[in-house]
Amino acid sequence: MAILLGLDVGTSGTKALAVDETGKVLASATVEYPLLSPKPNWAEQRPSDWKAAAFEALSRLAASPGVNKDDIKGLGLTGQMHGSVFLDASGKVLRNALLWCDQRTAAQCRTIEEKAGGRDKLIEMVSNPAFAGFTAPKILWLRENEPEVYERVKRVLLPKDYIRYELTGEYATDVADASGTLLFDVKNRRWHTELMSLLDLPADMMPRAFEGPEVTGTLSDAAADATGLPRGLPVIAGGGDQAAGGIGTGVVREGVLSAALGTSGVVFGYANEPFTDPKGRVHTFCHSVPGKWHVMGVVLSAGGSLRWFRDALCPEECAAAKQSGRDPYEYITAGAEKAPLGAEGLVFLPYLTGERTPHNDANAKGAFIGLSLRHTHDHLSRAVLEGVAYAMRDGLDIMRGMGMSATQVRASGGGGRSAFWRRIQADVYRAQMVTINVDEGPAFGAALLASVGAGVYGSIEEACDTTIRVVAACEPDAARADAYDKWFNIYQGCYRGLAPEFERAAALL
Ligand code: XUL
Repeated sequence: MAILLGLDVGTSGTKALAVDETGKVLASATVEYPLLSPKPNWAEQRPSDWKAAAFEALSRLAASPGVNKDDIKGLGLTGQMHGSVFLDASGKVLRNALLWCDQRTAAQCRTIEEKAGGRDKLIEMVSNPAFAGFTAPKILWLRENEPEVYERVKRVLLPKDYIRYELTGEYATDVADASGTLLFDVKNRRWHTELMSLLDLPADMMPRAFEGPEVTGTLSDAAADATGLPRGLPVIAGGGDQAAGGIGTGVVREGVLSAALGTSGVVFGYANEPFTDPKGRVHTFCHSVPGKWHVMGVVLSAGGSLRWFRDALCPEECAAAKQSGRDPYEYITAGAEKAPLGAEGLVFLPYLTGERTPHNDANAKGAFIGLSLRHTHDHLSRAVLEGVAYAMRDGLDIMRGMGMSATQVRASGGGGRSAFWRRIQADVYRAQMVTINVDEGPAFGAALLASVGAGVYGSIEEACDTTIRVVAACEPDAARADAYDKWFNIYQGCYRGLAPEFERAAALL
């Protein structure tokens, strides 16, 4: 039976996954690395860390007893989106990569909108406005702030595509990841050379863009020997982690959406057409399904908010978890369940690292609003879970307003594992929340893309239908949904009221 590999160059680590053609997981290996923040609002990583982690994780797969090398038919790539790896003419990395969650480029975002002829014109060109985390403003930042480095830049690669280069020697990307650079003509699925020239960026700076299941090259002999994988193994384009995650949860038809709660939180929907939100609050990107698109709302600190809460305010839960060998989140969500819906008026804003959807506000901050003497730790826990669900609903409502239907929302990511958080989401979204049989994230989607690229399946839809099925569903409760509607309204008002103060506070920092 054919074996397919998926490699996910994530923010906390790189994960390699081997599955057979029925989707059964045969082996998995993850290697972690640090996130560097040399200044407030900056987020960087060393591409050499990604490379070491990718080679190590792939070597572990190759050495797994359940993985017969002769059966491996393809390797699909995925990873954190938007990051910039700057390479010189010889392919050498020139500095640390700036990441998707880096917020240093507000000035460059304004420049890009101006040079494009305004925000609306930019949305018309590349289907999205300028967000601080996207790639193009990072390139302009380098040109303005480190001109001696910029002068030597010949190519810019996205994180997973740098690993592709190290594995195959080829410069290539996929249309979904390219969409997040802000230099890609999302509607026509090609680089926007006119915008690149308005920004004075050479057309050959970005690599050739392939559709998700296309083969971009083969494993070099050196990479094969270093990892123990077969020489000449086809390496498939794959997709940015959100698009590959969409494939891995089976979001390949209209009406089905996913809600992925990792560090970031993403409401992700499939689209037959490149619908855009005229206000640019959600992203419209190419999907990894050839010729299709996806729309998504991105909450920058979703699971990230709960992790912050755990680390800053849950020493008792962490100590109990350490003693019992269980997960601290189990204690936190069990506590949250004891507090009533709406946390007796306590509202949490999850904008710990600024926000993309719907505010596009790098200055936004997190907040607990409505504290009273009645509130206990359990109320705080519940407010965090509800606040993240409200932030996701902001994106979902915009997508519904664009005419996208949401009959079913598929839970994924670490946050999707909590039954209680799924119930909150079902009620807040007023949609059926389901879980599926696989919980391997974007790496699984990358392996499915590889299955199509290697000819095991004829289409992505066929690969998904064969390997993915719904295992449990949670229906919204009308009374709870009505109650949440009222708190959601208060939540939205809290940001509106605080936004000018966030801006004034940012000016003092
Ligand atoms: C999507 C985004 C994040 C990163 C993190 O636009 O910025 O989901 O891809 O992995």
